[in-house]
Amino acid sequence: MAQNIYDNPDFFAGYSQLPRQVDGLEGAPEWPAIRALLPELADRRVADLGCGFGWAARWFRDQGASSVLGFDLSQNMIERARADTDDAGIEYRIADLETLELPEAAFDLVYSALTFHYVWDFERLIRMIHAALAPGGDLVFTIEHPIFMAAAHPHWTLDKDGRKTWPVNGYSLEGERRTDWFAKGVLKYHRTLATTLNTLIGTGFALRRLEEFAPTAEQIAEIPELAEELERPMMMLVSAHKR
Ligand SMILES: C[S@@+](CC[C@H](N)C(=O)[O-])C[C@H]1O[C@@H](n2cnc3c(N)ncnc32)[C@H](O)[C@@H]1O
Repeated sequence: MAQNIYDNPDFFAGYSQLPRQVDGLEGAPEWPAIRALLPELADRRVADLGCGFGWAARWFRDQGASSVLGFDLSQNMIERARADTDDAGIEYRIADLETLELPEAAFDLVYSALTFHYVWDFERLIRMIHAALAPGGDLVFTIEHPIFMAAAHPHWTLDKDGRKTWPVNGYSLEGERRTDWFAKGVLKYHRTLATTLNTLIGTGFALRRLEEFAPTAEQIAEIPELAEELERPMMMLVSAHKR
């Protein structure tokens, strides 16, 4: 049973204030790297899994996608996405990715940002996505990087010189992880890099590109706090193709 922390009022209030939710895609430092992974969007049928406020859904339509279907577990997120969208080509539905079934060969792109690490049964999800893509379709997703996920709590500790260090604990122990982020005990699922990629390969996807996001020097000059992201990868970006 998925946790649905985004419907917790305290969590939602905090999350809504993040730059990426206030400013949209441009507020996410990894967005240029994601864009580089995305296929041509004109006339594509897109599914956005864990669509949140619908920022990406609206962008896909601006790029010419013929339709976007956004799914999210959280009523808060879907209500906000609907309120911010005035486009008959976009539909939002409440759904749990643990059990979601999509029609076969119905999409040209399945996209998901920072959501799959909330899903326990990754293999089922990836098989379902593979079947839902038309031949030649693409899966592009981002997740919290397994190294970041396996870091101890708090995510950093201070060394004897007062510098932040980023320990990795129990990397090979997959499964539940709990973090305190806007609320106590937020539930996520850790999978190693190998499990993540081998699940895609085993399902029949061809891997196109993997990025371990790190900010550019220009981004750090603009937002100095981003320098922290050079210490360990926080996000992993994956592009896979259905032959
Ligand atoms: C970090 S947010 C990302 C939202 C959006 N993709 C973005 O990049 O702005 C994660 C989203 O995943 C959704 N989510 C978490 N678990 C889910 C599940 N089991 N099924 C569907 N959506 C889920 C949350 O409600 C939330 O909207």
